[in-house]
Amino acid sequence: MKAVAFSRFGGPDVLEVAELPVPEPGPSQVRVRVSAATVNPTDIGMRSGARSSALEQMPKPYVAGMELAGSVDAVGPGAPWQVGNRVLGIALPMQTGRGAQSEYTVVPSDSVVRIPDGVSFEQAATLPMNGLTARRALDLMRLSAGQTLAVTGAAGAVGGYAIQLGVADGLRVIAISASEDESLLRKLGAQEFVPRGADFAAAVQKLVPAGVDGLIDAAVIGAPAMAAIRDGGHFACVRAFEGKPERGIHVHQVRVSDYAHNQAALQQLADMVADGRLTLRVAETFPPSQAGEAQQKLHAGGVRGRLVIVF
Ligand SMILES: NC(=O)c1ccc[n+]([C@@H]2O[C@H](COP(=O)([O-])OP(=O)(O)OC[C@H]3O[C@@H](n4cnc5c(N)ncnc54)[C@H](OP(=O)(O)O)[C@@H]3O)[C@@H](O)[C@H]2O)c1
Repeated sequence: MKAVAFSRFGGPDVLEVAELPVPEPGPSQVRVRVSAATVNPTDIGMRSGARSSALEQMPKPYVAGMELAGSVDAVGPGAPWQVGNRVLGIALPMQTGRGAQSEYTVVPSDSVVRIPDGVSFEQAATLPMNGLTARRALDLMRLSAGQTLAVTGAAGAVGGYAIQLGVADGLRVIAISASEDESLLRKLGAQEFVPRGADFAAAVQKLVPAGVDGLIDAAVIGAPAMAAIRDGGHFACVRAFEGKPERGIHVHQVRVSDYAHNQAALQQLADMVADGRLTLRVAETFPPSQAGEAQQKLHAGGVRGRLVIVF
């Protein structure tokens, strides 16, 4: 099978389309014939060597890719799926060395759910990893309906889902992003918009003088973003938090791997797509041979919607 693989760390040029053996599903696993797999910031960290210590324990070559859509192709013992089921799901290449960017991949049977009717493979692949990340962040903060949520990096994949899930939870959502993103983010349901920049926290405080109840930091601004949060509020970090806790603010470390087996949460996301409450955004599709170009494009910034590799 073809896979976007790399055997050394470095720039996008280390990626190649390699021929690898088709993996066999073990107990409670399914093999998916992958039709679409997204490109995410974490792929860049994996390929560059920023996370080499975990990967070096695993056999080369490595294959990135944390989310996929395709059809069940083989079913391991005890996995409640049938060949031909159209599924979307999350993969954890940092735990296995082999992620979603390949023609076939093996995943736990509870890491996938059915693709809603009328949703393409390309669209479906954009849901699981970043949708679960936003869900995990909200669940860690345990905000109540009527409370306020701020989202940095609101136009990104995590940010867009955080807005829509926050709205569905009954929160008042303040989106923080570039000015040109305002109409997109209001369409996603954000009640308030604040332009990104050094003084965004002051602008949030103008809207909510005591500070927001919770903030999801999808732009990875870190400690300076805490100025927007009220005393005793909640701060959800998607990368390691390097600041010091202050004013009783609860700092939550979000790891989507904690939800990789939360099939109920994944099903709820798919249901929200089906009933129109979650928007799937595909920016562009690429063949496997152009995975490096896709990573470069993502790294350059300004992409709205996800870049998707089509197999
Ligand atoms: N911990 C986990 O389990 C987990 C899971 C998923 C994702 N993540 C992390 O979450 C982060 C977001 O992922 P993503 O896929 O949503 O990325 P993304 O789609 O690239 O979105 C990031 C957004 O942040 C914006 N941004 C960058 N710097 C900013 C700033 N200073 N102020 C305001 N906005 C800024 C970007 O705008 P421009 O495009 O204009 O630069 C972009 O819209 C990444 O760091 C990713 O690695 C972590």
